[in-house]
Amino acid sequence: MNRTSACTAALVLLAVSAASADPGSTLREAFQDHFLIGAALNASQFAETAPARQDLITSQFNTLTAENVMKWQPIHPRPGQYHFAAADRFVAYGERHDMFLVGHTLVWHSQTPSWVFQDDSGNPLDRAALLERMREHIHTVVGRYRGRVHGWDVVNEALNEDGSLRDSPWRRIIGDDYLEHAFRFAHEADPDAELYYNDYGLESEAKRRGARALLQRLQAAEVPLTGVGIQGHGSLDWPSPQAVADTIETFADLGLRVMITELDICVLPSRSRRVSADIAQRQQAGDRLNPYPDGLPDAVQRRLARRYAELFAVYLQYRDVVDRVTFWGVTDGDSWLNNFPIRGRTNYPLLFDRAGQPKPAYQAVLETAARFANVEEDTPLSVP
Ligand code: G3I
Repeated sequence: MNRTSACTAALVLLAVSAASADPGSTLREAFQDHFLIGAALNASQFAETAPARQDLITSQFNTLTAENVMKWQPIHPRPGQYHFAAADRFVAYGERHDMFLVGHTLVWHSQTPSWVFQDDSGNPLDRAALLERMREHIHTVVGRYRGRVHGWDVVNEALNEDGSLRDSPWRRIIGDDYLEHAFRFAHEADPDAELYYNDYGLESEAKRRGARALLQRLQAAEVPLTGVGIQGHGSLDWPSPQAVADTIETFADLGLRVMITELDICVLPSRSRRVSADIAQRQQAGDRLNPYPDGLPDAVQRRLARRYAELFAVYLQYRDVVDRVTFWGVTDGDSWLNNFPIRGRTNYPLLFDRAGQPKPAYQAVLETAARFANVEEDTPLSVP
């Protein structure tokens, strides 16, 4: 694939200056010819206790990811004990609404109980014993939803920021090949499921290089690997459209499918300074770090809209390799970013507000799709 950065810049300019197109369609309609579009759901959403959200979810999205209920901790909290009730509800909900379902996640350094890595006496397991525990978990969970969950985040966040392998208990006990085994176990359990490696920060060059090398090792070992999940957690200024394009291109050049799996845009200041010991200064710092407790100013709404428009322009540029774009939550009130990295902030990272109403960013995304709908394949783009 040989797209130039000039083309990316042109597409971004085109998207953010899109004439007002008919935003009448929904997200799933607007992108139906390009890629799936979805959201991560929490347990209350697929329990259908909030009917208003049901219309929003089923009208806007055609793919769903389990935000938490399929992680090791909630689904396999103790040896020999599986809690499938919530995951069963998620799958049944998705099937009722004909959704492409994504299981998240099988092997991760986080949300995995410590017993997983210990023997009955609390000593670290050996390689063979942990491999068997991993096999049993993956075969039990993936096997239960065989043919019903269409894709799995098999291994999540195995890399450090510099692109080296994270020193997790999985790696320490099994070795660097724990990833290969995880993918093979998942493929054994459901040969038809898509299998993904999922990570954040891949838009940073060092981590992207490390991911490319890791994925090439998996391919060389003939591991069943469908694609890469670029999580897509970003801010108003990072990553740049060009970095997103370079990242998609890097993995597409390996012949892998690409997904944006956890898209959200943090609009709040990052915690750049040490929090002062002085209470007044801490209060002042707190206000600075949580500047919009009562609503997002129009100027920031517009910046967020432009940000999403430029990102979707890139996704559309690579629509031949991007299979899915999933938001990490439905409305601003659902987002993990209201409590990370600081608890109790009011963030506005998604397309729908706390009342479930579309934000300007939603219109901007639809307008970007409408604008691209009028561009013939490979037609040179005129930059307005
Ligand atoms: O379900 C328990 C509940 O029973 C308990 O009362 C409550 C009090 O602590 O905790 C609840 O579990 C919480 C869970 O979310 C469900 O709400 C966990 O403490 C909390 O740590 C967990 O946070 C999730 C986080 O991953 C860690 O698993 C976030 O919701 C989720 O958005 C976030 O998602 C991750 C992706 O899986 C991987 N990529 C990064 C992304 C953001 O961190």
